[in-house]
Amino acid sequence: MREVEVLPDLSRPCALVPTMGALHAGHQSLIRRARELADEVVVSVFVNPLQFEDREDLARYPSAPKQDNQLAMQAGATILWKPSYESIYPGEIKTLSSGEIGNRFEGIHRPGHFDGVLTVVNRLFELSRPKYAIFGEKDFQQLFLIKQMAAKLDSEINIITAPTIRDSSGLALSSRNIRLSQQALKDALVISRTLRAASNESSIKDARQALMQVESEASFTLDYAEIIDEESFQVADESSVKTRAIIAGWIEGVRLIDNMAMQKSLVRV
Ligand code: PAF
Repeated sequence: MREVEVLPDLSRPCALVPTMGALHAGHQSLIRRARELADEVVVSVFVNPLQFEDREDLARYPSAPKQDNQLAMQAGATILWKPSYESIYPGEIKTLSSGEIGNRFEGIHRPGHFDGVLTVVNRLFELSRPKYAIFGEKDFQQLFLIKQMAAKLDSEINIITAPTIRDSSGLALSSRNIRLSQQALKDALVISRTLRAASNESSIKDARQALMQVESEASFTLDYAEIIDEESFQVADESSVKTRAIIAGWIEGVRLIDNMAMQKSLVRV
């Protein structure tokens, strides 16, 4: 595996795994998926200031360069790409808009976040011209918006989805988990427990009620919990076919998000 700041001309089609570093087993599963699709696997590490609405959150974002190198190599990356800020944003930044959907759920609590995500992902695409780009389901709204952006730009890049990786207790892996105490790691299990319960309900009403159980954990401060329609990212209703439970909130000053597909087709009530 080569570590580069500037990508060389790639002679073979590549699969891109965009990351902000602090890699973990979740990222490794994306890299392994990429390796199934292409012999050249580029893992980008770039902490994108544009997607942090809160300067302190940006300053606290974890960084583990040595570990990134090891984990990326182990999982089969061929190039670890660490672009400079100037190469991503030369001159005036042309921000992409995430539109109405970018202002829902995450967007209400993180204004401008998805505009920043789309802007950087588009730049990473422009610079690396991948055949495939792999994103995890854990950031489901991000995934939805990136797919929408790729479709709008008539991009030939195949956006590939990979499932959320959980630890043995059910907690979704996230670079931010490193900031949680042992107690908070236990308390955070309320999120996956609640999602699992909601995902087994067979009506939207019951699933919503089940989601409210997330507030039973006193240390958890809820931002939102909802059942959404996967096709539109609107609140699910009787016409929804594929639906998903989503939750976001805070434990010990750390923001956690997670989601789970509903297991049964919902009864129309
Ligand atoms: O999911 C992330 O880590 C980031 O939002 C991404 C896609 C690498 C863009 O900065």
